[in-house]
Amino acid sequence: DAVERGEYRHYMQKEIFEQPRAVADTLEARLGPHGVLPNIFGAGGDELLAKVRGLHIVACGTSYHAGLVAKYWIEEYAHLPVGVEVASEYRYRDAVVPPDTLFVAISQSGETADTLAAMRESKRRGYLGTLAICNVPESSVVREADLRLMTRAGPEIGVASTKAFTTQLAALALLALQLAHQRGLDADRYAGLCAQLAHLPRAIEDALALEPAIVALAERFIPRQHALFLGRGVQYPVALEGALKLKEISYIHAEAYPAGELKHGPLALVDESMPVVAVAPGGPLLEKLKSNLQEVRARGGELIVFAEGEAGMDGNPARGALLRVASGGDFIAPAVFTVPLQLLAYHVAVLRGTDVDQPRNLAKSVTVE
Ligand code: G6P
Repeated sequence: DAVERGEYRHYMQKEIFEQPRAVADTLEARLGPHGVLPNIFGAGGDELLAKVRGLHIVACGTSYHAGLVAKYWIEEYAHLPVGVEVASEYRYRDAVVPPDTLFVAISQSGETADTLAAMRESKRRGYLGTLAICNVPESSVVREADLRLMTRAGPEIGVASTKAFTTQLAALALLALQLAHQRGLDADRYAGLCAQLAHLPRAIEDALALEPAIVALAERFIPRQHALFLGRGVQYPVALEGALKLKEISYIHAEAYPAGELKHGPLALVDESMPVVAVAPGGPLLEKLKSNLQEVRARGGELIVFAEGEAGMDGNPARGALLRVASGGDFIAPAVFTVPLQLLAYHVAVLRGTDVDQPRNLAKSVTVE
């Protein structure tokens, strides 16, 4: 065990630091110098994708959050409608399936009972086809799908998923790019997005260098019972994933909200004892997010802000901290901003002395309903 963990204290920490390699492996021989390579989703894949007029993405847990990010990407770049749903809901309701809809299952293990059942159910619902984004080639989800794109995260031991998530994002980014390219995305824009994606392993490497600053930050969470995570746009699913990581392994109750919803409820909870973590890369929604953060500050809440370089949030908030994260561009920002949130959850859990790799009551793969 100690041999496999090497210099790291837990598998989770090791897996967080394996992300540049895992993401690079996932992009290898799939993203070429001129874009996404042909038929990376399997034989006939590009032909099938060209017919797609909408997508339904189904998954559980962290994989569901990856699906939410993909919705923002695919709708923005390929202009295709995307529905994302947790598998345990999807399988028991009558989802309406418009013509030429692709069913996409995302699963690290490929054996999650609800995801597998949802995929089997989808076969009766008249989809154009099924695509699996998965980390285990011989798994049931992969075997039963028409198309597949394997994440190449390697074995993930920590129950709280880390490298599986960022490699899922890399795979879904390839899907978004392919769909967008087929639907006539401007060539320069396509090339720019491909270049950003190629840079992702390096951008994650840079984000990992924030670890010492995050260790210092984590101390503030030791006595906390609640935390609120905020994001806007494509960073909202990142906030969801950050909150999930914290609750899974530190047992601090954490919730994520799209920052614009703050005034519709969670603001009532904000006081000195409630840390608020915000993911704030650049982009048009930054100004809006800043005014949301003012609302938190005005109520004495402790603000922890992860912001893009010089995102105009200079000067430390009165109570709280500002950490600079270089996103590497709007497209890959959700994958990059996930990394400091993983590190935060990890170090809070270590400081609180929980069983980081084996959190109570949770399983790595939930193969029964
Ligand atoms: C469990 C794990 C999570 C994972 C979820 C879905 O809850 O603890 O880390 O995200 O299952 O698993 P899957 O293998 O389908 O991605």
